Amino acid sequence: MTVRYFTTPIYYVNDRPHIGHAYTTVLADVAARYARRLGHETTFLTGTDEHGQKVQQAAAARGLAPRAHVDELHVAFRAMCENLGTTHDRFIRTTDADHVVVVQGALQRLWDQGLIESRRYGGWYSVSEERFFPEKDLVEGKDPVGKKPVEWVEEENFFFKMSLYRERLIAHIEGNPGCIVPAYRAQEVLGFLRQPLEDLCISRPKTRLAWGIELPFAKDYVTYVWFDALLNYLTGIGYPDGDWRERWAESTHLIGKDILTTHTVYWWSMLMALEVPVPKRVLAHGWWLMGDAKMSKSSGNVVSPLGLADVYGVDVFRYFLLREMVIGQDASFSEEALVRRNNAELADDLGNLVNRVLSLVERRFDNRVPEPGPEQPLDVEVLASIRGLEATVSEAVEGLMLHKAVDSCAALVRRLNRYVNETVPFTVAKTDLPRAGAILHVVLSALAELSWWLEPVMPRAMAELRRRLGADGRSLVAGASIDKGAVLVPKHELPEAPVPAAESPTPTAAPPAPPAAPAPQAPQEGVALIGFDDFAKVALRVAEVLVAERVKGSDKLLRLEVDLGSERRQIVAGIAKAYAPEQLVGKRLVVVANLAPRKIFGLDSQGMVLAAKHGDALVVLCPDGPTPSGATVS
Ligand code: ME8
Ligand code: MG
Repeated sequence: MTVRYFTTPIYYVNDRPHIGHAYTTVLADVAARYARRLGHETTFLTGTDEHGQKVQQAAAARGLAPRAHVDELHVAFRAMCENLGTTHDRFIRTTDADHVVVVQGALQRLWDQGLIESRRYGGWYSVSEERFFPEKDLVEGKDPVGKKPVEWVEEENFFFKMSLYRERLIAHIEGNPGCIVPAYRAQEVLGFLRQPLEDLCISRPKTRLAWGIELPFAKDYVTYVWFDALLNYLTGIGYPDGDWRERWAESTHLIGKDILTTHTVYWWSMLMALEVPVPKRVLAHGWWLMGDAKMSKSSGNVVSPLGLADVYGVDVFRYFLLREMVIGQDASFSEEALVRRNNAELADDLGNLVNRVLSLVERRFDNRVPEPGPEQPLDVEVLASIRGLEATVSEAVEGLMLHKAVDSCAALVRRLNRYVNETVPFTVAKTDLPRAGAILHVVLSALAELSWWLEPVMPRAMAELRRRLGADGRSLVAGASIDKGAVLVPKHELPEAPVPAAESPTPTAAPPAPPAAPAPQAPQEGVALIGFDDFAKVALRVAEVLVAERVKGSDKLLRLEVDLGSERRQIVAGIAKAYAPEQLVGKRLVVVANLAPRKIFGLDSQGMVLAAKHGDALVVLCPDGPTPSGATVS
């Protein structure tokens, strides 16, 4: 039997869990459940990161000792897992005794090997990100990731000689395509490694930070929270003495893109120094955005995942998380989007279908699964899609593109609805009962298969569906009794949303038209009308141009690097005939920030610059006043 090992980040216990944490945790759970379904012996680790300055400060703010604070707050993360129905094998805490032993063992080993040494050091430290940033990376004097203040810190410290590993890191990433998923994130890490790599400060004097694991060779210091935290992935499977190697060789770290550098550069060089192989893969997903900002505990604009799972059901919530976010890209979170998906895909497409076919079985087939019949041409294609589901899902799962597994399940449901509309079993049943039975047999087999492959995402609902079908595992059993039951997935009202200014209705004396019949308007010639919802899908943002250069071999294209506030992006724009590169640097433009990335002239373009055109003339659009990078445009 093959093995698999999945991990989530261990979350800081400085505040309550939010939807970002719920997402990575659900993603890892779905990966683990699929791996088991595909026959792999699977280990799944999650937990909490409990040391460090951030946690110490959070504890102090509550007037608690750090230990009391973490003992209390980590419970919220455990409860999140329980509420989300995750199947982790261990919930690790960095304050666990076995982890402390592993961290001190690793520190001692690197110290003995001369890979850690003591030096005097000054640098810009961000408490929010728990790391130093080089001066050149600061943005307006703030840390470039979370845009939080940094402070100048100067002291005697211990350094891990990370710089020794730069070439080996590059060689590993280049030699192992797929070790960072999606591939464009590997390019980011390689870009980072093209610059000189500094050594890593791995200590904090206890005078400044007492809440951490003590350096075994310097009692006045504790270790840096990231050095401590990353090792959890080894503690979790019994390193160094246990039977961890086989699982480690099949390890996948699931993380958000905010912690990609720590999980590749820091972590892999630590592992190289410890002579432990680097993990097989790191999957970095994008961010859930609320409005225009990444949700984070520090900025306070968080959605309680537990609350939504309570209102709409855990299965619906898990389905939404998997379905709405294309792995790697950012996605906007809204309760409304969740309700829309629930109503359209789960309540209507799937729930109604189940209800209709089971009602017919109940009424006309004495509550028993009908016998299959001779296959007619319309059946053949559907039966092929049913058989194809396993292959599509397996491929998506092996490639970690888990949202595609859900997409293919949703596609099968749509296909089944069309099949039922084409074959009209409800009408056929009046004249040809065996044929109606054969049609139902096809649909019910498909639903049994679907329940099997969607169960990792919606464990309870799909187990319930199979029970209602009387299926044996994924196989339908002719003659088995079915149980129509109540509505499988209920519909919900859309949440009340404030009407955005741009959509305020034109004043009119008449009462507002009912939503189903909007007042007709003359569309501009050649331009189709869209609703506000369609417009709202386009994320327009202000972006400052940091770098602009001509694209070799093209006289139309410029390669831009822009600051979107929360991240830096590369955009290839067809504006070289109108602008020289140096005219653009420092300008603030308006860009489409959620355009799917594409390759233009071999370069990744992650967005689009807005420009006005008139004949041959072209001008880019700029805000008429000072506007920070990342500001929304609507
Ligand atoms: O970084 N969208 O912990 P953390 C999507 N303790 N995912 C999000 C998110 C968002 N808006 N916000 C958070 C730490 N996440 C360290 C990790 S690991 C050895 C140490 C998820 O509490 C995402 O997985 O800040 C991100 O990487 C993680 O939470 C950061 O959690
Ligand atoms: Mg964070």
